[in-house]
Amino acid sequence: MFPVERMRRYRLNEDIRSMFKETYINKDKLIMPVFIDENERGKKEIKSMPGIYRYSIEEYENYVKYLDEIGVKNIILFGIPKNKDSTGSSSYDKNGIVQRSIRIARDNTKMNVIADLCLCEYTDTGHCGVIENNYVNNDKTLEIYGKEAISYADSGVDIIAPSGMMDGQVKAIRKSLDDNNYINTIIMAYSSKFASNLYGPFRDAADSTPQFGDRRSYQMDYSNGREALREMDLDIEEGADIIMVKPALFYLDLIHEAKKYYNLPVATYMVSGEYTMIKNSVLSGLLNENVIDEALTSVFRAGADLAINYFTEDYIKNHK
Ligand code: PBG
Ligand code: ZN
Repeated sequence: MFPVERMRRYRLNEDIRSMFKETYINKDKLIMPVFIDENERGKKEIKSMPGIYRYSIEEYENYVKYLDEIGVKNIILFGIPKNKDSTGSSSYDKNGIVQRSIRIARDNTKMNVIADLCLCEYTDTGHCGVIENNYVNNDKTLEIYGKEAISYADSGVDIIAPSGMMDGQVKAIRKSLDDNNYINTIIMAYSSKFASNLYGPFRDAADSTPQFGDRRSYQMDYSNGREALREMDLDIEEGADIIMVKPALFYLDLIHEAKKYYNLPVATYMVSGEYTMIKNSVLSGLLNENVIDEALTSVFRAGADLAINYFTEDYIKNHK
């Protein structure tokens, strides 16, 4: 107690402060999202996400070489296909946009290649699964996820990240990988993904806005924390190697609990809306740019082992 204990001793100057710093951002733990667009010729900035682009496959090749060169260690790929249909069949085309992008990154860089696995970019409805009677049919969707997983694995992906929130998706994907001898493909499960208001800019970027209704019959109600833990339990039982909490900053309580309860790596996804809020505040001069470091530090302090976030490229470029 005061005056014996003086907390300010730890904060006297920069050198002292650095000795007591508890949380560091390790760039090996950051994952950069990349959008590849089959309809694009060059690259186009995403209106609501300053500094983030959709790349044509040619531009993408240069971009991933550049990311590798500056020291980015991990990327997660999102593809925008030319053709959409009711079942999202271009998602498992062996020459599909993501499949080609996986091969390009694998052949030209040292980075770990993660591919988001869903259908909302591939269906004409913009839903994450196949629609039947105005409802996403869970089990029919799983069959397509299984094919999509194999085609990603055939292309040499390191990690598959199912984001559609279908029941049994991890089990279905693990089984189809095992049946095809892909025993070393890692599954990063979007275990507790909330029906969030923070995905808007991404849906512009990935052209994946639902054409009717919303995603609340499969993504989680943001009021529910205990249910989130149950989603994580199930994904672990089904064979996930990594569990995820998404979004990040409004869900730090769940990152913390995931770390406390489970002995497998915990990822979080700081989503497009989180990027947009912070980035625009910095660009307009309302907030100091150190707020980016503060935001990223907070998810690691809460317990995240890995953080998917759109700041990765800049962060690594600015912290050599
Ligand atoms: C697709 C998917 C989404 C995100 C990642 N994968 C959008 C959604 O569920 O509508 C969101 C990422 C972001 O907002 O940055 N299922
Ligand atoms: Zn989806």
